[in-house]
Amino acid sequence: MTISRRTFLIVGAVTAASVALPPFISAQASAANAARPVKASVKFWVNDQQRNLDLDTRTTLLDALRENLHLTGSKKGCDHGQCGACTVIADGRRINSCLTLAVMHEGSKITTIEGLGTPQKLHPMQAAFIKHDGYQCGYCTPGQICSAVAVLGEIRDGIPSHASPSLTKPPQLIASEIQERMSGNICRCGAYSNIIEAITEVAEASA
Ligand code: FES
Ligand code: FES
Repeated sequence: MTISRRTFLIVGAVTAASVALPPFISAQASAANAARPVKASVKFWVNDQQRNLDLDTRTTLLDALRENLHLTGSKKGCDHGQCGACTVIADGRRINSCLTLAVMHEGSKITTIEGLGTPQKLHPMQAAFIKHDGYQCGYCTPGQICSAVAVLGEIRDGIPSHASPSLTKPPQLIASEIQERMSGNICRCGAYSNIIEAITEVAEASA
């Protein structure tokens, strides 16, 4: 059987269309899947209150705190784990809440800046930041304070840092040790020296 040039072109076009179709359909299907979030419930303690949330599983802990629980003290700076503005304390350890999914914290005890103290009854670290002028614009301050509180816990627990001269002896409460541990908290206003003074004062008072 001979195939005319016209028939050949028609067959070719149909074949090309059928080859091109599956990726198009699969792109549509994945767009539809992305638009349909997978939900999960998570139960955790935030600032000593039990909270139950029904969340898109892709929700970060930071977004759950800010958008679902309206605790806007934790700030979104970079949303990439680079600035520390979103630092909260989870089960006693500081974490970047933008880098962790809320559903990974089932049963956790989360403390945000709102849970550390109140304007009427400040946490000693909050009072020291005010006394030493440890901020200018204040955007990084909630993360700095949560981090600083956890840093003192790390030093008390004897956890060494990159700046510790010994891995086995208890870390010393000195500026270089505090600076290294606070290096993940960026302050665009450059209030670093006052921040170190505030942390040192609280550390010495609680030693
Ligand atoms: Fe999380 Fe910058 S917002 S580290
Ligand atoms: Fe402005 Fe730190 S006080 S970024």
